[in-house]
Formats: sequence, C-alpha cells, structure tokens
Amino acid sequence: MNGPNLNLLGKRETEIYGVHDFKGYLEGLRERYPNVRLDFFQSNMEGALIDKLHEVGFGKCDGIVLNAGAYTHTSIAILDAIKAISIPVVEVHISNVFAREQYRHHSMISEACKGVVTGFGLDSYRVALEGLLG
Ligand code: DQA
Repeated sequence: MNGPNLNLLGKRETEIYGVHDFKGYLEGLRERYPNVRLDFFQSNMEGALIDKLHEVGFGKCDGIVLNAGAYTHTSIAILDAIKAISIPVVEVHISNVFAREQYRHHSMISEACKGVVTGFGLDSYRVALEGLLG
C-alpha cells in the first residue's frame, strides 16, 4: 500500500526515489513470489488509505506492506487505523529517512507496526514482504 506522491515513482525526485515506476517493480515481485497474492493500492488521500486499512485489515489478507509517504511523519489517524486492525503492517521507506531532514526522522506509525524497513530503494518492499512471510 502506497501513500501520497508515490504514484509519481520514476518521475519524482529520481535522485532519491530512483527511475523505476512501482508498476514494473511490483510485476517483478509477483514473478519472484508466484505463490503469494500481492494486491496493490495507492492513494494520495489519508482517508482513502484508512478506509483501505479497515477494508482489508480484518482477515481479507495476511499482512500489509505500507509506505505511508509523508503521512508517516504526521498521521495519528493512520497510526490509529493500524492499531485498530488485526493483521500485521510493515512500515517501509524507499529512502533512508534517518539520513534525510530531521522532520523525517520521526514516524507516527512505527509503534504500531511489526517492523520498519528504510533505505533499500524499491527493494525495501521485498525485504518487508520477506519479513511478513517469515
Ligand atoms: C518516503 C519517505 C517520506 O519521508 C516521504 O515523505 C515520502 C517517501 C520513502 O519512501 O522514502 O513520500 O516514505
């Protein structure tokens, strides 16, 4: 699940987020894990992300890899949604948020997540997935 501005991957600040779009990366992940169903959702809207967490978070899937984008640093509402649902969520970031601006060093959502992966480029999603698969 991807939050705001992540629909622009491949176009957006490519020196930080890389030149590849998410669609192609996800196709590669699906090929690598043929036995895992990987659904995808992206929204630029906080409420839509929360609605999706509620929708899938009670057994419709086994876990969520979540890049909440900048909402990571601001959203108590997303924190509460993660706390409310019953499946594990792994927080991911493409960039190493701790090597960036101070305001990116704090995550509102980490305390409710099973784990945090940050700084491995798009491969952060794979590492998070492997964490969920155990
Ligand atoms: C990000 C890091 C956030 O600080 C930023 O607001 C993003 C992307 C990342 O994947 O590195 O939108 O979550």
